[in-house]
Amino acid sequence: MKKLYRKLVSIRDPFARVKRHVSSHSGFRALRDRKWMFPFLASLIMLITLLILSIYGKFDAKEDPLPLDVVVESNDYFVESDFRTYLKSKVDVSPELPRLAYLISGTKGDSHRMMRTLQAVYHPRNQYVLHLDLEAPPRERMEIAMSVKSDPTFRRMENVRVMAQSNLVTYKGPTMIASTLQAVAILLRESLHWDWFLNLSASDYPLVTQDDLLYVFSNLSRNVNFIEHMQLTGWKLNQRAKSIIVDPGLYLSKKSDIAWTTQRRSLPTSFKLFTGSAWIMLTRSFLEYCIWGWDNFPRTILMYYTNFVSSPEGYFHTVICNSKEFLNTGISHDLHYIAWDNPPKQHPISLSLKDFDNMVNSKAPFARKFHKNDPVLDKIDKELLGRTHRFSSGGWCVGSSDDPCSVQGNDSVLKPGPGSVRLQELVQTLTSEEFRRKQCP
Ligand SMILES: *[C@@H]1O[C@H](CO)[C@@H](O)[C@H](O)[C@H]1NC(C)=O
Ligand SMILES: *[C@@H]1O[C@H](CO)[C@@H](O)[C@H](O)[C@H]1NC(C)=O
Ligand SMILES: *[C@@H]1O[C@H](CO)[C@@H](O)[C@H](O)[C@H]1NC(C)=O
Repeated sequence: MKKLYRKLVSIRDPFARVKRHVSSHSGFRALRDRKWMFPFLASLIMLITLLILSIYGKFDAKEDPLPLDVVVESNDYFVESDFRTYLKSKVDVSPELPRLAYLISGTKGDSHRMMRTLQAVYHPRNQYVLHLDLEAPPRERMEIAMSVKSDPTFRRMENVRVMAQSNLVTYKGPTMIASTLQAVAILLRESLHWDWFLNLSASDYPLVTQDDLLYVFSNLSRNVNFIEHMQLTGWKLNQRAKSIIVDPGLYLSKKSDIAWTTQRRSLPTSFKLFTGSAWIMLTRSFLEYCIWGWDNFPRTILMYYTNFVSSPEGYFHTVICNSKEFLNTGISHDLHYIAWDNPPKQHPISLSLKDFDNMVNSKAPFARKFHKNDPVLDKIDKELLGRTHRFSSGGWCVGSSDDPCSVQGNDSVLKPGPGSVRLQELVQTLTSEEFRRKQCP
């Protein structure tokens, strides 16, 4: 239909020009002055030819698309084709073990929790960025940088980075996405080797070791994104997508809550809106697409979401489900165990000892949220992570039993434990045909 319409429009165009040509030259003057006879006849013939062409053109419209439509199909003439070839050339399953890149972020008073989470998810193969937002005093940022600097393992591996620049982050606003994108940009620039990016907060904690995670993910396509998503519909669509908010974190130096305007905007028609969990595990190729922006779509959506409430729950979701290249790569799960009140309140339940069994049974590799030094964290350390000293147990720790990770062995030697069995079961469910059919509805 669209093709036919475009065709008609472009045919009408020269047609109209001919008509103008005809009318301006076909007065009495043209009849009196024979000099005008030739152009008049010429345009008449052209008119007839065009008419015939347009009539026949209608019949073979399908076989003969106009150049405008060719842009979408053809690969060889335009710069974007190179990028698409590059995307296709990315290896699906690599023989090498995967590497993960973590962003761990927190605010004032979170530095100790962040260090604990960092140690629990540490593995020499991975990359880590720590970000304390602008509410944390400079002293706290200094403290966390010092503890990273003074750790002999971090110093040797150089894979933990503390961001000196700290952003003012509004949790429901676009400044949260900007901060996440900045961390990804740093990781893309700093390190060539990582396959997936995850974001954790100070109140997140792992339920499996990194050996478990790397072992299970080594078997997975490197193109799979874990992002819980669903299409935004019903009252939620009207409430969220029509409202316009302003995040003062974008331009004020002190934190204040997002502002709601009285004006409303219409629903988008050039893309569909998706929503889901703000906790994500995304592939390097998808994030390169978002950050490097060779396609304008991720950038346009970022601008659209500037005035959207709870944008971290929608930005990546809307980009992935509207991009042809990535549409089929999203698995709708956020890899977290999160418990809610019934009916759900604004924040999830803080997990404690009584939630331990539910956490383990969920088979999720991460859980949230935990109070600082909650006793259940010690139970997780002891029973799930084998974390006796700084780090969770792993094949790379080859020292004596009083601090095994103080001596570093081969980091491609994994010692998966019971956590890998749980995670493998979860991943199997998530990658099943039945589950994948729910992708980007
Ligand atoms: C990343 O993690 C934080 C937790 O610190 C979360 O609040 C945020 O919304 C997450 N997602 C994105 C897309 O930034
Ligand atoms: C990898 O996948 C294959 C086929 O699906 C399966 O048989 C095997 O057990 C998996 N290995 C690991 C380490 O998960
Ligand atoms: C580390 O272990 C892997 C897998 O077992 C092996 O292929 C590699 O050669 C080892 N590297 C070193 C430096 O020993």
